[in-house]
Amino acid sequence: MPDNYRLSKGILIDEDTLQDRIEVLGGQINHDYAGMTGLLLVCVLKGGVLFLTDLMRRIHVPHAIDFMAVSSYGVGQRETSGVVRIDMDLRQSIEGKHLLIVEDIVDTGTTLNYLKGLLQSRQPASIKICALLNKPSRRVADIHIDYIGFDIPDVFVYGYGLDLDELYRNLPYVAIAK
Ligand code: IMP
Repeated sequence: MPDNYRLSKGILIDEDTLQDRIEVLGGQINHDYAGMTGLLLVCVLKGGVLFLTDLMRRIHVPHAIDFMAVSSYGVGQRETSGVVRIDMDLRQSIEGKHLLIVEDIVDTGTTLNYLKGLLQSRQPASIKICALLNKPSRRVADIHIDYIGFDIPDVFVYGYGLDLDELYRNLPYVAIAK
């Protein structure tokens, strides 16, 4: 990534700060799930994928991973439509498993609220949520997030898995869109 690109945009959370925080989150998860079996990390695509791969390397409790793809708004939109669509479902039964949903960002909470309800109906042993970013000022749905990386203000961000019209997910930091 050319330097002039970096400098022309505001970096909200730099790479070192992200990685340090993910290390701490991994430590908390190791502590909370110590000795447990049946941990399944459910990554919400596409935005959660970088976070998942960094987080899972810090989780030493034996665990499996799986993926779901959901969409609540389309390319070019920055507000949720309020209607959540499952684009790709899990490929396994989650009955009796300890689910940890790994999400990039919680904004209104509509997506996670829907997802948690859907997964709950499949009778896992437990469900917790781990979100890298949280915009508390935007919350509409009453949803508890068990592990939060960073509370951020009401700005549209991209990078580190999050997209700007499907681009820039590869950036190792979180930036603010103009
Ligand atoms: P919610 O349903 O309003 O909580 O929205 C959650 C989804 O909206 C996230 O999984 C993201 O895909 C997307 N989203 C919300 N805020 C942002 C942002 O600032 N940048 C990129 N995507 C966002």
